[in-house]
Amino acid sequence: MTSPHSESEVQVVDFAPFLNGSGKKSVAAAILASFKTTGFVYLTNHGFPDDKLQDMFSWSKKFFSLPRETKMLAPHPESGTHHRGYSPPGLEKVAQHLYDTTELIENRAKAQDVKESFESGREEDEVMPNIWLPDGILPGFKEASLDFFWNSFELQKTILEALAVGFDLPEDYFVKFHTKPDNQLRLLWYPSVPLKALEKNEITRIDGHSDAGSITILFQDDVGGLEVEDPNSPGSFTPVPPIPGSIVVNAGDFLMRWSNDTIRSTVHRVRAPPSAAAADGMVPERYSIPYFCCPDFATVVEAIPGTWSAERPKRYEPISAAEYVMKRLAANY
Ligand code: NI
Repeated sequence: MTSPHSESEVQVVDFAPFLNGSGKKSVAAAILASFKTTGFVYLTNHGFPDDKLQDMFSWSKKFFSLPRETKMLAPHPESGTHHRGYSPPGLEKVAQHLYDTTELIENRAKAQDVKESFESGREEDEVMPNIWLPDGILPGFKEASLDFFWNSFELQKTILEALAVGFDLPEDYFVKFHTKPDNQLRLLWYPSVPLKALEKNEITRIDGHSDAGSITILFQDDVGGLEVEDPNSPGSFTPVPPIPGSIVVNAGDFLMRWSNDTIRSTVHRVRAPPSAAAADGMVPERYSIPYFCCPDFATVVEAIPGTWSAERPKRYEPISAAEYVMKRLAANY
């Protein structure tokens, strides 16, 4: 079920026995164990249609290769709570983790964030309406994005079912809180940049941060660069290289709180990929597609059964997803 990695490494779990029912409990246990030690897990044989995945990456390439002024026809609003549309380089500032060393804080102040993003959600979302390019520009992009959104939602359901089984809870325990869904699909493009500038932290791809929601599903190309902080050694990061055919899933802050801190929401970042130094000194461009899963905003959650006891009391008051997630998102812009 799991690869023979050491315990502090992100585990690779074959999801097929969960999907076909031949080994639900062991798969669920392996996923939960990796979430508890690293906050991350790789899933292979996850069932997401590969043609749809390749298709979405090519739409993403087409979108980001449009001229800047065209992309700006679907602008991300300045408001910190409306996460839809196109963000040019430098708009998002990840504001959660400041390291307590003068050097890093100084570097951070002058570092320029060079990624671009496009965000969308379900079409009928009234709180955060989608922001598309005007009709006639890149026809098919909107339909492909929405289709990908709903395929990701199906994948999210099975992962949440596995988590519930891992906790010995009814399989629909988490799914019941994720019905709407108030999720976010983000297309990310990290352009090719000089390796030296990345290494000196003059520019960044994405700084250290944790995710806000319940889980994040990450689809990525084969370039790499994702790094995850060792929960037992703050400030020390380990590469989580792409594994062909796999997806990466990580827990967010809301799930950590919901699980009474038994699951970790781990700090991660994107840097130069290992052995990135091409002959011309440029780091190759990277495309990734994170799908951020949030509980229904109206849901008020308390600690998951089994994560608290007389010896390990509940650490948090009940909180609504809306209150928690919006606070976190607003801090990033
Ligand atoms: Ni993240």
